[in-house]
Amino acid sequence: MNTARTRLDPRDEIAVIDRRIFGGFVEHLGRHIYDGIFEPGHPSADAEGFRTDVIELVKELGVSTIRYPGGNFVSGYRWEDGIGPVDRRPRRLDLAWHATETNEVGLHEFQSWLDKVGSELMLAVNLGTRGTQEALDLLEYANTSVKTARTDERAANGHPEPFGVKVWCLGNEMDGWWQLGHRNAADYGKLASRTAKGMRQLDPSIELVVCGSSGRSMPTFGAWEREVLEHTFDDVDFISCHAYYQERDGDAQEFLASAVDMQKFIESVVATVDHVAAVKKGDKRVQLSFDEWNIWYLTDWEEQAVRYGPDEWPIAPRQLEDQYHVLDAVVFGDLLITLLQHSDRVRSASLAQLVNVIAPIMTEPGGPTWRQTTFFPFSITSRLAGERAVRLPIESGTFHSARFGEVASVNAVATVGSEGASVFVVNRSLKDAETVEIDLARLTEALGHDVRIVESHLLHDDDLYAANTLADQTRVGTVANDSAVIELGRLRVTLPPVSWTAISLRA
Ligand code: AHR
Repeated sequence: MNTARTRLDPRDEIAVIDRRIFGGFVEHLGRHIYDGIFEPGHPSADAEGFRTDVIELVKELGVSTIRYPGGNFVSGYRWEDGIGPVDRRPRRLDLAWHATETNEVGLHEFQSWLDKVGSELMLAVNLGTRGTQEALDLLEYANTSVKTARTDERAANGHPEPFGVKVWCLGNEMDGWWQLGHRNAADYGKLASRTAKGMRQLDPSIELVVCGSSGRSMPTFGAWEREVLEHTFDDVDFISCHAYYQERDGDAQEFLASAVDMQKFIESVVATVDHVAAVKKGDKRVQLSFDEWNIWYLTDWEEQAVRYGPDEWPIAPRQLEDQYHVLDAVVFGDLLITLLQHSDRVRSASLAQLVNVIAPIMTEPGGPTWRQTTFFPFSITSRLAGERAVRLPIESGTFHSARFGEVASVNAVATVGSEGASVFVVNRSLKDAETVEIDLARLTEALGHDVRIVESHLLHDDDLYAANTLADQTRVGTVANDSAVIELGRLRVTLPPVSWTAISLRA
């Protein structure tokens, strides 16, 4: 077994973590809203029809901001359909997901749900089939305190106070051929710039996210970011990144290298963004909003998707209900480590998505809710992460990846706060266990006291494909990593092959 040595030195700081890195994403898609978070007939439903069992799990997950209402859905959405008396709201066809949208849940209901789960709204505007005026109308409705026709309407609909939405997305994946209103970088960049300028005239306090590429493998990746930013550099705060990973061709070892792709993705976007800054001779740093990331068996979905006839537009069909296993959760934990390693530039991120749809939380209509395997790395990282991210470079064994060459088996990051530190570490090797030894002298010096292990969590199973299901909802969980000890000022921990570990150190 390889033993890798490193030290935890708070001076190796990456950044003060923006808690928005622990965001989520809720789209009107499949059973995410209807028969997911909202199920009026369910035994646990509250007076508004929201499932309280789901609310409790979302709270436990620990999501900071939640991006809404899409996704591909937003590019055909009329936000006005979702306000006013529910019985007068129109039913619409959702072209993105070939479904019927009842509009029973709209802005007011969703904000009310967010108040219950304790998360903040991140709102996307439709720049697919709509434009600047509709975005301004929504911003005025949501954020203005001055008395106007729009704000009177908001008050009449039960919300006299502004919603005060801070972060706004200027459309969704506008580089994608599948996107309603898809356009080229120049056309989108000009529209996004015009819209952003108008939105800032209305509310200068907002933060704006412009669409980056919908994936690193897009043919326009890089060129898209550059051209869009040439038009919008002065207008926006963030550029978005989206990435989904899956095991392909049964090659688990290659899948375990997925975080290397995310790392390269982030570094390429940062380089492109800063190139535009250099050309513009600007000091401004446009930050990254990694506002869609997850494991998604996208190719399975493309191959197996139910094809509905021209007159079949179901309400809340079962779509994208991926079942996650242990291997997925280990890769997922590694993606979170990678986001933290880049928290100097990734200042916002959204796990896509939250309930039923490629989600850490599953529900059955009239039945239970349960945690998927990916729930654990997210909830534990979100809860244990301290104020600042700190580098934890580890020279471990390696394995060969067809895409990336020699890849380190162990990947880790630490966080430090006033009371202690946390370590998040993954072993990507399919075969070999790894022992990691971390010198804590500099941490002890900085904190002014010794630390002890107060929590440790290990996600690992001999069956890489074990999952939590309706029939067996608690098959997979985390256990304490009992190998973790502190001896002579060093934290030593053993990582089984394909495993994720989190350790919390306190005085
Ligand atoms: O998260 C599922 C879909 O993936 C989103 O609607 C879209 O933005 C992306 O392609």
